[in-house]
Amino acid sequence: MQHPRETNEQFQLQNDCLIRALLRKPTSRTPIWIMRQAGRHLPEYREIRARAGSFMALCTNPQLACEVTMQPIERYDLDAAILFSDILTIPDAMGLGLYFSEGEGPKFRKPLRTERDIEKLSITKTDADLSYVTDAIKLIRNELNGSVPLIGFAGSPWTLATYMIEGQSSRDFARSKLWLYERPEILHQLLEKLSLSIIDYLNAQIASGAQVVQIFDTWGGVLSTPAYRNFSLAYMQKIVDNLIPCSEGREVPVILFTKGGALWLEDIAATGCHGIGLDWNVDIKQARARIGPNTALQGNMDPAILRASPSVIQSEVKKILQANQGSNGHIFNLGHGISPDIDPENVRALIEAVHDSSRTH
Ligand code: CP3
Repeated sequence: MQHPRETNEQFQLQNDCLIRALLRKPTSRTPIWIMRQAGRHLPEYREIRARAGSFMALCTNPQLACEVTMQPIERYDLDAAILFSDILTIPDAMGLGLYFSEGEGPKFRKPLRTERDIEKLSITKTDADLSYVTDAIKLIRNELNGSVPLIGFAGSPWTLATYMIEGQSSRDFARSKLWLYERPEILHQLLEKLSLSIIDYLNAQIASGAQVVQIFDTWGGVLSTPAYRNFSLAYMQKIVDNLIPCSEGREVPVILFTKGGALWLEDIAATGCHGIGLDWNVDIKQARARIGPNTALQGNMDPAILRASPSVIQSEVKKILQANQGSNGHIFNLGHGISPDIDPENVRALIEAVHDSSRTH
């Protein structure tokens, strides 16, 4: 007997605007999702986070991760859900001891300090080391029940390496860049191990039900052009080349988001990714002219606009939509994650403005 999740009906999507936009097919409206859509701007998130005790307690409990993923979907008319988790789950599974100290962001108890620390690292196996993530994905897919697609994600090798080497968030990336210039072969060894771990992780996410995947290269933009190509993009290319291309009878689109990556849009498009995430520095019309028609663009409203009134939000939305006129393949998003102080009513105004101003019938 077939499990109900394996019937074709279960694989159909009521709203496939995100996937269609990523595959450069026409859509009835511009799809929108928001980076960090599940998180501290939602009172219901703050409530469940207080009950769970910590952010990592939410991530590692599949039921809670599922519940939090669904919160923005239940509140807003979004066109996609994104798995509630973090990019630092892989370094944590590698044994670095991730913790979050209040108001200071992520930290590692055992950051990488020596060549030996990198040699000792093992490549993670999702089945054995990160099954809480794939378990969460299965629960979320059941809960979504074909309403909107689920986005899975990972950090880029370079971005993960910076946290692992610095031990925390950084301003100047002093240690990571010292290795990059003085001991590039050691950094390459680390990036290689991370790439293999990420390929396994994203493929396990796809096999468990992720219908789109995004790679967050939050710190690619701090590199010089040759360093970006060698130490960040080359490894994202390797990941793109090794992902499961189709699942459930449909293509699984890949989005690459390099924050501060405006200089390298042509190089990013040349990886063969389906979509490029843009931060708010980029003029989206110029971005389209530079990369041509074959790659979707995601973004790129300045997250600070969400502090303004709904009428300002509406007019800023129109500017971005107009810049895309005549070109489908646009996914509306912010240029980076939403801030915790944003009023959910302004988020609602944003989503309505995107849908109302982009509807084609
Ligand atoms: O987008 C989503 O809604 C999915 C969930 C998600 C989180 N983190 C939840 C989270 C995703 C996709 C991430 C990715 C992530 N995590 C990135 C790349 C994207 C980016 O923002 O550039 C990075 C660099 C991290 C590492 C990380 N995790 C940092 C720097 C922080 C602290 C941020 C802060 O504002 O304090 C986190 C914690 C984190 N990850 C929170 C959430 C909702 C806040 C945790 C809390 O509840 O206190």
